[in-house]
Amino acid sequence: MLEVNGLSKEFGGVIAVNDLSFRVVERQIKSIIGPNGAGKTTLFNLLTGLAPCTRGNITFLGKNICGLKPHVIAELGMSRSFQNVEIFDNMSILENVMLGRHCRTGCGVLNVALRRKRAVEEERKIREEALRQIETVGLDADPDASPASLPFGKRRLVEFARALATSPKLLLLDEPVSGLNIRETEQVAELIRRLRSSGITVMLVEHDMSVVMEISDDVLVMDYGTKIAEGKPRDVQRNEEVIARYLGQSRSNAESTKP
Ligand SMILES: Nc1ncnc2c1ncn2[C@@H]1O[C@H](COP(=O)(O)OP(=O)(O)OP(=O)(O)O)[C@@H](O)[C@H]1O
Ligand SMILES: [Mg+2]
Repeated sequence: MLEVNGLSKEFGGVIAVNDLSFRVVERQIKSIIGPNGAGKTTLFNLLTGLAPCTRGNITFLGKNICGLKPHVIAELGMSRSFQNVEIFDNMSILENVMLGRHCRTGCGVLNVALRRKRAVEEERKIREEALRQIETVGLDADPDASPASLPFGKRRLVEFARALATSPKLLLLDEPVSGLNIRETEQVAELIRRLRSSGITVMLVEHDMSVVMEISDDVLVMDYGTKIAEGKPRDVQRNEEVIARYLGQSRSNAESTKP
């Protein structure tokens, strides 16, 4: 599904991603872990076209996607959520989710502006699909309300629903359970498993090791932009270099003491 070869990203003197190569196969849950500043979010930005890569190749569903615009990559079937939830408080929950679906419509802006019949029909379908995704993520809130008053965990669900509204084949989640309590964390872990069962491939950046070890098929460990280990969760967890450079540190221990 995804093949990354020799991918690098430099910001001035900082090498955020350094000669990284890996694969993601269909219906896999692949986690990317590593210390703060390891380059995990930068990797997601490169994959989704939000930042241009300095060197290397990214092949998604057999197509080279390096240099493509984010909306084109979304149309091809790659979608994401952000480390800092990015939703719009001046729009309703439903409108936020509908934004995701607009990449799948064939109706031009002029048709929508003139409220031509086809545009009205299309809008109705977008609304239905958005409501379906709000239900999929288990968001129990008035879809016409603003997300501003929602607690943090539910704001994340709005973002997940928007990502799902694009009908992704590959879903990238950047720290989906950070800031969530134990119950919300379990719900999100269960949601990710359900999405995989429905045929979606998932890449996950996460510091919560109990979630990573429980749901991942495969784990890639990054430090200073490079891959230091890759394999089954159990093997990665026992890898001495990974323990020395990441798992033995306080952050992962702190993450296991959730409210
Ligand atoms: N836009 C940018 N300009 C300059 N440097 C950047 C930029 N984005 C990221 N970096 C640097 O690249 C490195 C990797 O950052 P990145 O955010 O990808 O790490 P991360 O693994 O996601 O960390 P965290 O676990 O804290 O989210 C860091 O040294 C960071 O300061
Ligand atoms: Mg990050």
